[in-house]
Amino acid sequence: MAAPLRIAVLASGRGSNLQALLDGIAAGRLPAVVAGVFSDKPACGAIALARAAALPAVALAPRGFASREAHDEALFSEVASVQPDLIVCAGYLRIIGAPALQRFEGRMINIHPSLLPRHPGLDTHARALAAGDTEHGASVHVVIPALDAGPVLAQVRIPVRPGDTPDALAARLLPREHALLVATVGLVAAGRLTTDARMPRLDGAPLAAPLQLDADGALHGGRA
Ligand code: GRF
Repeated sequence: MAAPLRIAVLASGRGSNLQALLDGIAAGRLPAVVAGVFSDKPACGAIALARAAALPAVALAPRGFASREAHDEALFSEVASVQPDLIVCAGYLRIIGAPALQRFEGRMINIHPSLLPRHPGLDTHARALAAGDTEHGASVHVVIPALDAGPVLAQVRIPVRPGDTPDALAARLLPREHALLVATVGLVAAGRLTTDARMPRLDGAPLAAPLQLDADGALHGGRA
């Protein structure tokens, strides 16, 4: 059997996506290990979760570093030290500079709470509502220097309901986001999906369109 995929998780917030990955691993649904958790926010939930799970955890607050590059360099040296196969940005709320991105090009993915290319950036739930979208969702994409712009690997869609608020939409989306992330990382861990920054491949063929998550948590499509 192939060695489990070594994942480094970058997070700045509560860490529910990290927990979903850990649950997937514990349940035997994800042939992976979380090799370390890394953050710019020492007091965040993700770091607390990592410590409680006795995982390597490194949080470096940006203050005290002379520049973005210096902070990136310090944090990503820690990331490199756990020798990850894949870096998963799960609510890492800091912009990553080009040198760090180039160092890990094609090995870094991000989960973003919108149906990219719609609503890159922040406040995605409010923006989906303000735009009158009838459908909302989340995307897992390859990280490139442009914000939320790399190839989209997989998406989950939910309907927008009359009377939805940004909080209601976010709460309904979150468990689906978790399933999306676990399923997508699962395909990478199985060696079926690559995370190349130019042309991701599914089962050896270029991914023609984002995979779509079904109600049972399986991914479909992606072929021309
Ligand atoms: C998620 O909604 C994710 O899509 C976004 O930030 C949030 C992180 O949540 N990028 P958590 O810290 O994993 O709970």
